[in-house]
Amino acid sequence: MKVLIVGSGGREHAIAWAVNKSKKVDKIYCAPGNAGISQIAECVDIGAMEFDKLVSFAKEKEIDLTIIGMDDPLVGGVVDAFEKEGLRVFGPRKNAAILEGSKAFSKELMKKYNIPTAAYETFTSSEDAINYLENSKYPIVLKADGLALGKGVLICNTKEEALDGVKEIMLDKKFGDAGNKLVVEEFMVGREVSVLSFVDGNTIKIMTSAQDHKRAKDGDQGLNTGGMGTFSPSPFYTDEVDAFCKKYIYQATVDAMKAEGRTFKGIIFFGLMLTSDGPKVLEYNARFGDPEAQVVIPRMKNDIIDVIEACVDGKLDEINLEFEDNAAVCVVLASDGYPVSYEKGFEIKGLENFEGKDSYYVFHAGTKLSDGKFLTNGGRVLGVTAKGKDLLDARKNAYEATKLIEFDNKYMRSDIGKAIDEVES
Ligand code: AMP
Ligand code: GLY
Repeated sequence: MKVLIVGSGGREHAIAWAVNKSKKVDKIYCAPGNAGISQIAECVDIGAMEFDKLVSFAKEKEIDLTIIGMDDPLVGGVVDAFEKEGLRVFGPRKNAAILEGSKAFSKELMKKYNIPTAAYETFTSSEDAINYLENSKYPIVLKADGLALGKGVLICNTKEEALDGVKEIMLDKKFGDAGNKLVVEEFMVGREVSVLSFVDGNTIKIMTSAQDHKRAKDGDQGLNTGGMGTFSPSPFYTDEVDAFCKKYIYQATVDAMKAEGRTFKGIIFFGLMLTSDGPKVLEYNARFGDPEAQVVIPRMKNDIIDVIEACVDGKLDEINLEFEDNAAVCVVLASDGYPVSYEKGFEIKGLENFEGKDSYYVFHAGTKLSDGKFLTNGGRVLGVTAKGKDLLDARKNAYEATKLIEFDNKYMRSDIGKAIDEVES
């Protein structure tokens, strides 16, 4: 069969890598893709938001299945555009992708269906928000309602910071229309875990757990980024936590969406906070995490196409989702200066060291090919993933593998997976 993948990051490279292993697939296209993806798929110059062009391309090439990697097109209704033309596509429709697209929606859903989450209020008027913040407890969390490239969440330690935040989000519209509504949320303390799942509308199958490192600098300092590294599984995601989430969060979310007439098919990514009161939902995403995909997908034993087709066909109950009994760590190699400003266009050397290896991989994010050379072309350039028998072993292997790659301005965190030491030593 022919598969089209929509997106251009490390996540899409990991998806393409898994699709490429499927016995069912003869040809992979990716729109727009990147230099790494172009080694295993034919990249086409169509943007992820160009729905008409994507649909025309899928029809012209007789694509059997399209997989949407990114949040923006999902929230914008790309799945509806494909389905309208009778094309097979994996991802939630617009009315279900709102689970990620509107924080006000997801908070209301959780409240209505008693899914554990932080206490909150929603505001459409900045004056009301300011009045509320006058008498609140600090720290407190402000969230722009809509998509804001992962940057629309402000943790405010003082009233002054919170009032500045309201101005930024609601009045200055730093995140555009995403700031038309504001969610003000109780600050939670605990360990964060990412749990991804496949959903076919009714059945949900949970993948192995992972943990992200969002801040740019070691010790979780510096600005928030798309993610500087991940490890999987999370040692903090215990059987007890799993049992709690299965009872109160996972199926409850799928059932709630169905009850609202917003049947969800695709990936639900549960951002969880393990608080002293038990696990609570921090946020939902409607797609694989990036770089969570780069540690979860390589550990998956199933043929990814079997699982995705089962979701599309509503037959996920027939799938036995299995993960390897090992661990993986992904270290992101970024351009120094990310996420603010950085130079690009430097040659990347050493990629050939990863060819044909099955315990470590390099997933491309911001790269491009020019005259046969791989060049840096973004903030997050590559994700180096390694497996190991346990997390300590995987981390050692991942950092060893990062040494195989050289480019000017290469920057990475040196403490991805440091939390592992707390439980393993
Ligand atoms: P989100 O985009 O909602 O995942 O938020 C980004 C990050 O902000 C999360 O990964 C958390 O580290 C932090 N965060 C969000 N909501 C809260 C909360 N209620 N309490 C504490 N930290 C939070
Ligand atoms: N790594 C977090 C995300 O993909 O949203």
